[in-house]
Amino acid sequence: MIMNKVSVSDVNFKGRRALVRVDFNVPMDDNQKISDDRRIKASVPSIQKIMNDGGKVILCSHLGRPKGKMVETLSLKPVAIRLSEILGREVTFAEDCIGPEASNPVDKMEEGDCLLLENLRFHSEEESNSADFSRKLAALADIFVNDAFGTAHRAHASIEGVTHFFRQSVAGFLMENEIKFLGNTVSNPVRPFAAIIGGAKISGKIEVIESLIEKVDMLLIGGGMTFTFTRAIGHSTGKSLVEEDKIPLAKEIIDRCQRNGKELIFPVDVVVAEEATGTAHTEVVDIDKIQENMIGLDIGPKTAALFKEKLKDASTIIWNGPMGVFEIDQFASGTKAIAKILAELTSTGATTIVGGGDSAAAVSKANLNEKISHISTGGGASLEFLEGKLLPGIESLSNRTSPMSISTVIV
Ligand code: 3PG
Repeated sequence: MIMNKVSVSDVNFKGRRALVRVDFNVPMDDNQKISDDRRIKASVPSIQKIMNDGGKVILCSHLGRPKGKMVETLSLKPVAIRLSEILGREVTFAEDCIGPEASNPVDKMEEGDCLLLENLRFHSEEESNSADFSRKLAALADIFVNDAFGTAHRAHASIEGVTHFFRQSVAGFLMENEIKFLGNTVSNPVRPFAAIIGGAKISGKIEVIESLIEKVDMLLIGGGMTFTFTRAIGHSTGKSLVEEDKIPLAKEIIDRCQRNGKELIFPVDVVVAEEATGTAHTEVVDIDKIQENMIGLDIGPKTAALFKEKLKDASTIIWNGPMGVFEIDQFASGTKAIAKILAELTSTGATTIVGGGDSAAAVSKANLNEKISHISTGGGASLEFLEGKLLPGIESLSNRTSPMSISTVIV
């Protein structure tokens, strides 16, 4: 776990050039305007620590999937502008991440300066984890900081490869925080511990469900995956999404929860419509009364009340995956209700963790970011981490117990 990794807080960056891998893979609208800057804001504590120490911050990130080519709309330039606004000071932008276009501005940096390199994925060597590319990136700096939890599941050059060329590779504050909540809190939860799992398909969440069954006291299921479970227990599901080949798996999860004394809670009512559109006529029906021509698209109000009642005594709650098609307003109430329930429980002392991706977007849309204990910046990375997988972006960082441990870091 992170606590055996060297952290930015262990290092004095005075006079040192730090290559800081961040995850600035932020959504942009058609006019290249950043529509959600949470990941940029979340990287600020590490940046400020290095600046305040008198270090030089050389930020690098990917944006989108340009597949090794320069794609103008995937330039990180707008991110440099946004970061300058957030920091209240200039962030220089380098037109490339390697070569003279990167090294010249780095050479001009003074203590406390911040520079953002152009999109790493404009070079195919980033994703192929090329040693040569890693060496060129590493040559820009003296120490490596990984604060890109959202990309920690990718064994790419700027995540894993570079660490072979630095004496010291340390975790940023964001990275530490993610591992504290998604790792330590989930492994040693204050009980009762509940997990709410939603999303369209069981197939995308099976490993996380299997891993969490071992740890939680209570598992609440919502979202499209509900219908594979309810079919498994013999309910009609109309035209709702059912993964026929996963019905045996759903039965096995139900049996496993029973055998291990874990409470498994399904929705008791659902919002149905003939089609998943914003103009469709909707109805709320009991979970076992879905008509043949209807699709279940959100949990109903009785379910939201049931979940609230079940969760009222939980001390630790983790949530991953929306309760319905929350992008469409008329199927977003269930997901919003869960965000609200979690915010209320946080205010009465529970530790609440939102596992990134769609559920994090839903919390943000409901303006409840500040009311949740931890919202992960990772989508795929948080899922893989909760599944118990080792992430290259964490594993490759320097251990406190290694010969290059904390005592040799402090300068
Ligand atoms: C994410 O947004 O999940 C990360 O930035 C990783 O992006 P990727 O899936 O394109 O590797």
